[in-house]
This record gives sequence, structure tokens and C-alpha cells, in this order.
Amino acid sequence: MDKNTRIAFLGLGTMGAPMAKRVLTAGYPLTVWNRTAERAAALGAEGAQVAATPADAVRDADVVITMLADPAAVLDVVADLAPALRPGTRLIEASTIGPDALTKVTGLLPDGVAVIDSPVMGSVDRAAAGELSLLVGGDADEVLSLLELFGTVTRTGPAGSGAALKLVLINAVIGGVAVIGEALALSDALGLPEDLVKASMAGSLLGGIAGRAFAKGVHYPIRLAAKDVALASAVADLPLAKTVHDRLTAFPEAADEDLARIVDHLRA
Ligand SMILES: NC(=O)c1ccc[n+]([C@@H]2O[C@H](COP(=O)([O-])OP(=O)(O)OC[C@H]3O[C@@H](n4cnc5c(N)ncnc54)[C@H](OP(=O)(O)O)[C@@H]3O)[C@@H](O)[C@H]2O)c1
Repeated sequence: MDKNTRIAFLGLGTMGAPMAKRVLTAGYPLTVWNRTAERAAALGAEGAQVAATPADAVRDADVVITMLADPAAVLDVVADLAPALRPGTRLIEASTIGPDALTKVTGLLPDGVAVIDSPVMGSVDRAAAGELSLLVGGDADEVLSLLELFGTVTRTGPAGSGAALKLVLINAVIGGVAVIGEALALSDALGLPEDLVKASMAGSLLGGIAGRAFAKGVHYPIRLAAKDVALASAVADLPLAKTVHDRLTAFPEAADEDLARIVDHLRA
């Protein structure tokens, strides 16, 4: 992809803002849109065009990237922008919405517009550093260099396969963090020192998931984790996931806290 390729980025939340910034820093002409307009101001000041509507954002774009909260947000925004897309434009859908919603997104697009699913693993720290793990489904050959701005690309197969693998991976992570929370509750009941338990976890097979359960500088809100567990439960019978969803939604005051805080809530 040459550096004249025009990129539109829609959704400048916790993840979208640092990802869009990487596109701008790499030198691509960038147009951004966000529902809450103030969140686009910083990128506007750094040289991005700020569009007033999703359709205005994509009218001249060669590649459109969406990074929005959930299936409802993506479907609303894509319905708004679809009539303004030109044939040959590619839509990279980076949010976590699952394969069924991705199929609905595809159904909204005019002929000649291809969709690539590219959900990401990793939080805001890795988004800013360009160190996300991208799970890329569909014909992504011509946008690989753009995707590699965000991190490491794993090609997963046809469109929808990245969205599907993302649900598998993130649900295993969320369930693992919940299990760590209960393990801490058990160690509290047994009177074990927290430092000993955490160090023992870090040095065991649990190391990776314990690292996420006690992570700092990341922000994957409990509300988005609950959304991702609900997406998984909609496609398969997952009794443990139902329990995890109950626990994630049992602390509504914590919905905007990072997933790691569920450990504290489960211990309390
Ligand atoms: N946070 C993480 O660590 C992380 C990691 C990997 C993947 N993800 C996934 O990446 C996606 C974005 O996550 P995030 O953390 O950036 O979320 P976020 O901070 O909550 O941002 C969500 C974005 O979606 C927009 N939005 C929400 N509802 C909308 C609607 N109905 N119409 C139009 N725009 C709407 C928000 O606009 P406003 O600014 O107007 O609210 C904002 O731009 C999610 O699917 C999430 O599951 C997140």
C-alpha cells in the first residue's frame, strides 16, 4: 500500500484513538470520525481530517477501519456509511463483534466493497506501541502493511474466521482471570499471604493469565468483557461462561473498570 492510500478511521475510544494515531504518524492521509466529536479533536490538531458523519468520513477513502464498542454500534455506523462507499474500498472491521455480526456487516455493504475482519488481542498499552496481535480473516493481502502498523498479523482464513478466533481467545482469557479471582478468594480463606500466592502463580503454568489478572496500564472494561462472554454464549452452550457473565455483571458500579479489578470484586 502506498502512502497516498486514503484511510478513514471510525471509533476513537480507548483502542481506536492510539491505533488511528499510528496511521497518522505513518504518514497516510487520515480522516477520522467519532460519535462524541470532542474525542476526535486531538487527532484533528495533529493533522487528521475530522468528519462530521460516518458517510463524510468514508466518501473519499480507499480503506475504512471501524473500531467500535459492540455489534450494535458497528451495525449502526456501517449502515450510515455504506451508501457513501466507492467500489474497490476495503472495510477493516477491528472491533470484537463475533462472526454473526460480521456477516450482517457484510450484508450492508454495496457490491465491490470487501470486508476484512481484524479483531485484536492486547489492550491500550500495546495499541499505542503497535504491538497488538491481529486475527485477520478474509482477503487482506493488499492491506497487510497497514495492519502491520498495529502489530503482528495472524491470517486465520476466510472472512469471519478472525472474528471467531477472537471470541475463543478472549473468552479463555476472561474465564482465566475469573478463576484467578476465585483462587485468591480461596487463598484468603486459607490465610495465605497474598505476595506468596501471587509469586507462586507467576512461576507456575498460571503465569500468563496471572499476569493479565494483575496487569496495570491496561484498560479493557468489565462491560466489554461481559459483552464478549455474551457473544460467545450466543453461539454455543457454555455453562462456565454463563457463570462468568453473572459475576462480571454483578458489580455494575465496576463496569468501566479494567477486567483485572474483577479479581478484587470476587475476593471481597
Ligand atoms: N479496551 C481493550 O483493551 C480492548 C482490547 C481488545 C479489543 N477491544 C475491543 O475493541 C473494541 C473497542 O474497544 P475500546 O476499549 O476502544 O472501547 P471504548 O473505549 O468503549 O470505545 C468505544 C467506541 O465505540 C463508540 N461507540 C459506542 N457505541 C456507539 C454507537 N452506538 N454508535 C457509534 N459509536 C459508538 C464510542 O464512541 P463515543 O466516544 O461517542 O462513546 C467509542 O468510539 C471493542 O469491541 C472491544 O471489545 C478492546
